Amino acid sequence: MRPAPTWWVLGAGALGRLFAIRLTTTLSLHLIGRRPDDSPLRYHAPSGEIHDVDVARTTLATLALHTHARPALVVLATKSHATLSAVEELAAHIDPQTPLLSLQNGFSIQPRLADIWAGPVLCASTTEGAYVEGNAGVVHAGTGTTWVGDIENTWPALARDCVYWLNLAGLSAYHDDAIVQRLWHKLAINAAINPLVARYRIRNGQLRDRPFRRMVDTVIDEIGPLLEGEGVTPPPAGWHTLVWEVIAAMANNRASMLQDVLAGRPTEREAILRPLLTAAERQRCAAPTLETLYHDTPS
Ligand SMILES: NC(=O)c1ccc[n+]([C@@H]2O[C@H](COP(=O)([O-])OP(=O)(O)OC[C@H]3O[C@@H](n4cnc5c(N)ncnc54)[C@H](OP(=O)(O)O)[C@@H]3O)[C@@H](O)[C@H]2O)c1
Repeated sequence: MRPAPTWWVLGAGALGRLFAIRLTTTLSLHLIGRRPDDSPLRYHAPSGEIHDVDVARTTLATLALHTHARPALVVLATKSHATLSAVEELAAHIDPQTPLLSLQNGFSIQPRLADIWAGPVLCASTTEGAYVEGNAGVVHAGTGTTWVGDIENTWPALARDCVYWLNLAGLSAYHDDAIVQRLWHKLAINAAINPLVARYRIRNGQLRDRPFRRMVDTVIDEIGPLLEGEGVTPPPAGWHTLVWEVIAAMANNRASMLQDVLAGRPTEREAILRPLLTAAERQRCAAPTLETLYHDTPS
């Protein structure tokens, strides 16, 4: 087995806790939050079992005082809109060439990180599903798959190394040399589902009912041509099937954007809808449904 590296996970929310719980079993792991906390993380498995897991939980300031071990990779598990400022804080504490792994949804923060960060920026697209419970709990709502690559496909060996450690930790992960395509596909799904369920405060499965079904189809009719205009290959069974299959599989779920709206937290509207509106401007296409969704979704 390869010598275990040190990784940091920045952002102790749902996905950060989930990845930290897994990764702490196989490598030297620090979960970095905004508040110090030394209680174990409580993991609610998809099976319903509950385990308390000891994870080194810290803040950037504490870490700087107490450890000189610099990370071989930092997993970014903040929301898209919080990521740039989190990386600015992080930069003071790590080597500028340190690889980053972005877990963010949408396609907004990934190219910006690739522009500003001197080291490699890997991007992940994950179908793992998790939400926080209290200060130390995480509910693993659904087991999924994580694909890792980088925008220009410059770092395939690094991406495969990252995938090796994720798999060793029990997360199902693959290298994807076309990660940008996969991120756009996920963005299409999120754009067709999240703003509508957040606006109407419904579970995903209710989108299959009237009057929502038609609204979803109208959004997909706008998204598909826009993405193809950006050079994104359509999914084999088409955009409608891609979205409707996810709605059926996640029928009982409350999308994260709905949870954010209900809790009065900022949403990932910019990361999910803004890239589509920018594509529409670039292609000089009207996107009236997406414009309306953007204006109806709190930022
Ligand atoms: N959850 C999922 O199932 C899932 C699945 C696929 C993709 N994603 C993507 O993964 C990303 C994270 O999602 P999430 O659900 O884990 O979000 P989350 O539960 O809101 O967690 C984000 C965490 O980042 C922390 N944070 C913000 N700024 C920070 C900073 N400067 N330093 C340290 N920590 C900071 C937040 O702390 P505070 O609580 O103090 O604000 C919060 O704990 C999102 O882009 C999301 O779209 C999530």
